[in-house]
Amino acid sequence: MPNYPPRESSLHPTYPTSMAGFIHSNEPIEANESDWEIFSDYSSASEAGSNLSVASSIRDYVYENGRRYHRYGDEGKYILPNDETEQDRLDLIHHVFLMILGGELHLAPVGNPKNVLDCGTGTGIWALDFGEQHPESTVTGVDLSPIQPVWSVPNVRFDVDDLEKEWVWPQDHFDFIHIRCICNGIRDYQQLINQAFTHTNPGGWVELTEFSFEIVSNDGTLVPNTALAQYFDTLVNAYKRVGQVFPCPKMMRESMENAGFVDIVEKTFNTPWGPWPKNEKLREIGTNMALVGSAGFEAYALAAMTRALGMDLMEAKDLCHRAHMDVLNRNIHVMNPTYFLYGRKPE
Ligand SMILES: C[S@@+](CC[C@H](N)C(=O)[O-])C[C@H]1O[C@@H](n2cnc3c(N)ncnc32)[C@H](O)[C@@H]1O
Repeated sequence: MPNYPPRESSLHPTYPTSMAGFIHSNEPIEANESDWEIFSDYSSASEAGSNLSVASSIRDYVYENGRRYHRYGDEGKYILPNDETEQDRLDLIHHVFLMILGGELHLAPVGNPKNVLDCGTGTGIWALDFGEQHPESTVTGVDLSPIQPVWSVPNVRFDVDDLEKEWVWPQDHFDFIHIRCICNGIRDYQQLINQAFTHTNPGGWVELTEFSFEIVSNDGTLVPNTALAQYFDTLVNAYKRVGQVFPCPKMMRESMENAGFVDIVEKTFNTPWGPWPKNEKLREIGTNMALVGSAGFEAYALAAMTRALGMDLMEAKDLCHRAHMDVLNRNIHVMNPTYFLYGRKPE
């Protein structure tokens, strides 16, 4: 392989990390030189409860390129699908987040919050887990798509709504607002955080989590001519055209500060993609992220590349496939910066 310089983060600076609960930091990850050890421990089982919970039955979907997308609200705003394949992928990512956070559902010291809101709840898996762990809490999950289970645990309910519209819940109401991976459906991030502030109870917490839309390598194995590098360059191009928000700690922190949140804590975790790390836990995360990628490359890109860049469907699919093959290539060691921030609304 030619000796290209490492592909460093071009969008954002590297942020130092170190925290209890995280199994790793931003330090270089050593590659495993021994034979492959592939495994899969995926489980998406969620227990059914006794409460009919979906308040709305908006199931008017758009079908495109063999995938299903939401129509509710500003049609096409959220550019990822919402079909079964995507739901399985979201549940697997939830599992990865649990591994990253050492089994915890969040970082903020929320105690036993009375009212909890999960913004962009997806399959509702985080809300259901939180509701089970906190039977005293009332948890509301909200999403553009009604893809949550109809039967939920008694203290968890789901609403269908667009978080960029005026929020319908009371002001100063939620003791904890959880917002994870919804940047693909948000055009005005500051406005989202402003609304979160308005609806947080004084003394309550907001926690934000986002994957960066870029990948980095700290040993020079991600060279410009890889399909993976080409995929991300094309994706960023497409996202710029549709007015996509690009998450980074600076923007997320500033949005929280501008809204009025205090005691803001910020952590970055470099999530490995592919089973290349030597460290067993990181290899487990990387292996799961490679599984996530088998559906994820297309989920993030098909609509964006065909709608915004006018790419031919087969061309876009081919790029997604080759990018995923790069993740499975043990000679390419890439990581995806993942940002965690939380802060408190003053009393
Ligand atoms: C990548 S998924 C993440 C799901 C969940 N937060 C998790 O971490 O498991 C993003 C979800 O946010 C929802 N979403 C995006 N933009 C939204 C908006 N403006 N209003 C409500 N939901 C939105 C999408 O429909 C999708 O289900």
